[in-house]
Amino acid sequence: MRKLIDRLAEEHKLSKEEWIALIENRGEKDYLSHLARQAQKKYYGNKVFTRGLIEFTNYCKNNCYYCGIRRDNKNASRYRLRAEEILDCCKQGYELGFRTFVLQGGEDGYYTDDKLVELIGLIKNKYSDCALTLSVGEKEKDSYFRFYKAGADRYLLRHETADMEHYGKLHPPELKLSNRKDCLWNLKEIGYQVGCGFMVGSPGQTPETLAEDMMFITQLQPDMVGIGPFVPHHDTPFAGESQGSVEETLYLLSLLRLLKPNLLLPATTALGTIDREGREKGILAGANVVMPNLSPVTVRKKYELYDNKICTGDEAAECRMCLVRRMESIGYQLVIDRGDPVKI
Ligand code: 5AD
Ligand code: FES
Repeated sequence: MRKLIDRLAEEHKLSKEEWIALIENRGEKDYLSHLARQAQKKYYGNKVFTRGLIEFTNYCKNNCYYCGIRRDNKNASRYRLRAEEILDCCKQGYELGFRTFVLQGGEDGYYTDDKLVELIGLIKNKYSDCALTLSVGEKEKDSYFRFYKAGADRYLLRHETADMEHYGKLHPPELKLSNRKDCLWNLKEIGYQVGCGFMVGSPGQTPETLAEDMMFITQLQPDMVGIGPFVPHHDTPFAGESQGSVEETLYLLSLLRLLKPNLLLPATTALGTIDREGREKGILAGANVVMPNLSPVTVRKKYELYDNKICTGDEAAECRMCLVRRMESIGYQLVIDRGDPVKI
């Protein structure tokens, strides 16, 4: 195992068989996380970047089997934030020290391209020293281009799994892995900083499908990769499935750090949900980003992709302070910065 880990750290790629062997075996944990943290420290020191997440709509036309805001979940109480409310979140966030805003939402037809372009313009006009990240799903290349021209800097679109058969177990037939991948390549071509990612321990995931994820990430060379444990939501077809493990998530975070040493790698809210110190453990495994919530507390609980999501009752300021404290407790510092990837 050590040999494989050393080679990954040097060459930043492995064959599919080698990935499978590593992921199946999950050996040399301490050695792996030591190397991952070394790489993280080399490029980012003890700095942790932060993004203010604004969950601006939980309407969604899709029906992913894992997701709590899927179309068929009639128990979800739907909401949309108005432009003024979104700008209020940014204002609050800016004062708290956030220099990246992430607009995340379901695939909501109400927010047409024109409306999004306008919103992007409003935000970038007021906060020109901030990066704006979009996370609004699959769109035409032309739409992505318009958002980019309007000022969006980054785009998050998790690929969820790079294995076609596995993709089909997580999504209804109208959603296609090929389309998802095309979107990511289009975003990259346009010039966005791009983030893909997947859930750890999703139903049907195997070392083989995870190896596919690693191969795809090696190909795509994204700037960001978001991974967090799968956590069942009670009103979805996967209600009875078991959740992903902390330990496997941490192992994969470390592997990703070695696969691309300057990666922007969040310790996710899902990881903080299944373990009280999940985010700290994530940073210590090689992650370098946290993404606290800036959405108004009145809607927090409604953006529930999975059960027991943390921070749904806390004001943005509380979360910021909480994270400052948590990061300090492990020797890291939350910084006021756009948090762009460093060049290698
Ligand atoms: N558990 C964990 N993560 C989830 N996501 C959606 N539903 C769940 C769940 N039940 C993740 C998906 C999506 C991101 C916004 O949240 O990977 O891309
Ligand atoms: Fe939200 Fe700790 S990060 S309360």
